[in-house]
Amino acid sequence: MLEIKDLHVRYGKIEAVRGVSLDVTPGKVTLVLGANGAGKSSTLKAAAGLEPPVRGSVRLDGDDITRLAPHKVVRRGVVLVPEGRRVFSPLTVAENLRLGGYTAPKQAYDETLARVHEMFPILADRANGAAGLLSGGEQQMLAFGRALMSQPRVMLMDEPSMGLAPVVVDSILAKVREMADSGIGILMVEQNADAGLDVADHVVAIARGEVVFSGVAGDARSHASVLRAFLGEAALAGQ
Ligand SMILES: Nc1ncnc2c1ncn2[C@@H]1O[C@H](COP(=O)(O)OP(=O)(O)O)[C@@H](O)[C@H]1O
Ligand SMILES: [Mg+2]
Repeated sequence: MLEIKDLHVRYGKIEAVRGVSLDVTPGKVTLVLGANGAGKSSTLKAAAGLEPPVRGSVRLDGDDITRLAPHKVVRRGVVLVPEGRRVFSPLTVAENLRLGGYTAPKQAYDETLARVHEMFPILADRANGAAGLLSGGEQQMLAFGRALMSQPRVMLMDEPSMGLAPVVVDSILAKVREMADSGIGILMVEQNADAGLDVADHVVAIARGEVVFSGVAGDARSHASVLRAFLGEAALAGQ
C-alpha cells in the first residue's frame, strides 16, 4: 500500500537518506532498525510530508504523495506518531484526541473515539485529566490514540518505546501489534531491537542512510548487517 522508492533526504551538505526503498503492507509491521543518525527519522518525516526528499517517491496505492503538505498526507491516511510522543500537556486527554480527529465528520468521529477507548481504556478513564499528568506509557497510548482518530491506513511510528520501563515497552509494542492486526500498515522505528522484532513481520536495517538488510523478521536476528546497523560499527569491531 505505501511504497517508498529511492528516497534521498538532505540537510544542506548532509545526505541523511541515500536511496532508501521499502514497502508497508496492510496488517503488517515493518520494523526499521539502525544506529543513531542512520537516517531513520528522516525517512519517516519524508514519508509524512514533513521533510521533502530531494529525490525518490512515496506512493500510496500507486498515487504519488511525495510532495503533498503534511496535513494532506494525513487526509490520505498516512499519519506520523512522532518521536517523544508530543502530546499537548496542558490540554486534557479528550482534547488531545479531538485534535487528532479534526478532519472526521461527527458520526465517524464518535465511532472512532469509541474504538480508541476500547483499545486504550485508560484514555476514557482519564478523558478529563491533563495529558501532561499521564505516565510515559500512557502518553504513548495517547499519541497512538490521537493518530488513530484520523482513521489512518498507515501509521509511521518513531521510537514509541523510548524512555519507557521494560515492562511498559512490552505492553506498548503489544498494542502496536494489535493496531496492525486491525488492518493498519505500520512502519516503526525502534531502538529496542529485540522487543521490536517480537512484533515485527518485516525488518529493514539502515546504516548511513542506506538499506543494508531487508527481510522477514525471523531472519533478521542472526544477520550480521542487522547487528551492525543497530549496534553500530563499534559493537562488531574486532570480531
Ligand atoms: N534538521 C536537521 N538538520 C540538519 N541535520 C539533520 C537534521 N535532522 C537530522 N539531521 C542529520 O541527519 C542524519 C540522520 O538523522 P536522523 O534521520 O534523525 O537519524 P536517526 O533517526 O536514524 O537517528 C544525522 O546525521 C543527523 O545529524
Ligand atoms: Mg531518530
